[in-house]
Amino acid sequence: MWSIGRIRFDSRTVLGPMSGFTSRSYREFMAGFGPAVAVTEMVSSKGLLHDPVASERFVSSPKGCPTGVQVFGGEPDIVAKGAAKAMEINPDLLFVDVNMGCPVPKVIRSGSGSALMRDPRKCGDVVKAVKDAVDVPVTAKIRLGGTDETMNFREVIDELLKADVDAVTVHARTVDQRYAGRSRPEFIRNLGREIPVPLIVSGDIYSADDALRAIEVTDAEGIMIARGGVGNPFLIAQVNSLLDRGIELPDPTMREQSEWCLHLMDMTIDELGDKMGLARLRSLVPKFLAGCRYSREYRRAVTDPGTDYEGMRGFVVRMADELGDERRRCEGTGLRLEDRTAMKPA
Ligand SMILES: Cc1cc2nc3c(=O)[nH]c(=O)nc-3n(C[C@H](O)[C@H](O)[C@H](O)COP(=O)(O)O)c2cc1C
Repeated sequence: MWSIGRIRFDSRTVLGPMSGFTSRSYREFMAGFGPAVAVTEMVSSKGLLHDPVASERFVSSPKGCPTGVQVFGGEPDIVAKGAAKAMEINPDLLFVDVNMGCPVPKVIRSGSGSALMRDPRKCGDVVKAVKDAVDVPVTAKIRLGGTDETMNFREVIDELLKADVDAVTVHARTVDQRYAGRSRPEFIRNLGREIPVPLIVSGDIYSADDALRAIEVTDAEGIMIARGGVGNPFLIAQVNSLLDRGIELPDPTMREQSEWCLHLMDMTIDELGDKMGLARLRSLVPKFLAGCRYSREYRRAVTDPGTDYEGMRGFVVRMADELGDERRRCEGTGLRLEDRTAMKPA
């Protein structure tokens, strides 16, 4: 049992924010596998203020799916007002997380995301302003620092703590690394026991063993599942089982993968409609088909621009027929490099 402010959690897995992936339907689908909470993809605080109607779908949360909202922005008062607006749109949101790690140039140019880490005092000011504006706990998601030479996570965390932050997530890469190269939790060794609020560790969690190692090194309370969970939702159940009960669950069969994939396909189309839904599925579905015999052929078929929704479903059903009880091979961090580098935000 751990908590963020007054919100208590049994499960230690946190579904991480991913622009272009963690939409409402994805979060709802993943909730079935047992994360403590899901974080929305980052939402612009300016967008929330200027076009709350358009922002609504990003901050909405399905019943039975505990959700925190992630906001981004460069100025404390704007982030605070944006956060308050998000809470007004969806009062069920459990906490507000502030993005301080996004490496996308457009976001940095606006002084948001990882640009905030260049000014640790400002990071504190943002959290302070948000805390004054909302009644729920406030958390921040940071990186190790800008580069190996300017790794200032400790300084930033000190300012966040002064501002009374309720939890901190550290993605154990520098901004320079963006999403490639190895995540390096060894730089935040024992951090979890050194700070008075919960630490959530993020980076390269592709297997239950990866999660266990990251927690052992950092002493984090929470473990964030991001790219590793895309197309492998059962990872959440495997991590929970290993961390809570010391039991290793076998990898899912391709029949299970197929059933889950079909379910998510329907939910995605329901949420995003035919056109946007199909575009989203072209990046989601191939991940479900990874790690099996013929996966390259299946993946090529479903990503073919000529394959429509029904065609895609056909391949996913065929996979279950052809491979049935064969288990997905979840190779862990090392062999997933190709997948990892392919999934970058725009
Ligand atoms: C496509 C994509 C979109 C992402 N969007 C966000 C985001 O909106 N907010 C955020 O804080 N992190 C975002 N991240 C970072 C993830 O939450 C996570 O910290 C990172 O991918 C490291 O974990 P992993 O190596 O296990 O994927 C994104 C990552 C990817 C790959």
